[in-house]
Amino acid sequence: MPASVRIVEVGPRDGLQNEPAVVPAAVKIEFIQRLAAAGLPAVEATSFVSPRWIPQLADADEVYRGLERRPGVAYPVLVPNLQGLERALAAGVKEIAVFTAASETFNQKNINASIAESLERIRALAGPAQDRGVRIRGYISCVLGCPYEGRVTDAKVVEVAQALFALGCYEVSLGDTIGVGTPVAARRMLWAVAGECGMERLAVHFHDTRGQALANIFACLEAGVSTIDASVAGLGGCPYAQGASGNVATEDLAYLLHGLGIETGVELDKLVAAGRWICAQLDRAPRSRLAQLPEYLDESSNG
Ligand code: HMG
Ligand code: MG
Repeated sequence: MPASVRIVEVGPRDGLQNEPAVVPAAVKIEFIQRLAAAGLPAVEATSFVSPRWIPQLADADEVYRGLERRPGVAYPVLVPNLQGLERALAAGVKEIAVFTAASETFNQKNINASIAESLERIRALAGPAQDRGVRIRGYISCVLGCPYEGRVTDAKVVEVAQALFALGCYEVSLGDTIGVGTPVAARRMLWAVAGECGMERLAVHFHDTRGQALANIFACLEAGVSTIDASVAGLGGCPYAQGASGNVATEDLAYLLHGLGIETGVELDKLVAAGRWICAQLDRAPRSRLAQLPEYLDESSNG
């Protein structure tokens, strides 16, 4: 088990991209700021994708420009192509996240491109991004299964991860987009990629569709992963992945990690409050177990 874990909060992006309601930019900005104030080291702020494909995040420019960025906190944004990079650079972005998949059909539905075409798009933007000092994180979707193709092999995930590192990503996040994975499969897939690319350069990204996310994370922690994506209140999902629901809730993840004696730098009370706050704005209940409790025992009284 690692001594500390870097949690990458994806709620403002993965969460809000899948909400039926379009949240005003000012609410998004306050949400991101509350998350950063809770001690999260990275808050994925928004997405410079096509507003036709993701209308919920059409205000990416306004949101990013409106942020008061805290020193030491990373605010990556999703970028699908050169046009997205240009918008991100104009807004002052310092870190981007590029994305592709281990499944051809999902990639076509999500970004209208084959895996090879998406890697070419990433190649076209990676050079200009690096020339401007922008860090690049990579995502691979459908690492444990695809809503359209079913089984995805570990070998395919390894191949795509190697391609993303060759294009200059400092880290690759392995996404179980539709939450089909179970612990042994998740750990086996992680080991396969780590064997070729190095565990310290990998992150895991679990959606909790079938209630497996925390169990999968525990298995991956035992394998040594130390970067984990999560979304406060369990918001999240990809509109182009049938059946995808929320990410693992950041509050529940932090509770687990703290109970295991793993440092995160996160203040649980502030995190729970941020999740409850955004859910009040969205007029829905948090999907976090912790946030649903009227009172929860904090990690100091855990075990
Ligand atoms: P396309 O329609 O094939 O693009 O979409 P195009 O290049 O043919 O352009 C069509 C129009 O879009 C043009 O406008 C472009 O200007 C415009 P028109 O001339 O028709 O008026 N356009 C843009 N506008 C603003 N910003 C841009 C941009 N690019 C083109 N960046 C495209 C291709 C990739 C753009 C589209 O498919 C897209 O934006 N897809 C994004 C889908 C998405 O965001 N999905 C969710 C994120 S991935 C995810 O959630 C998974 C993850 O969480 C990990 C996991 O869980 O697995 C990361
Ligand atoms: Mg996701």
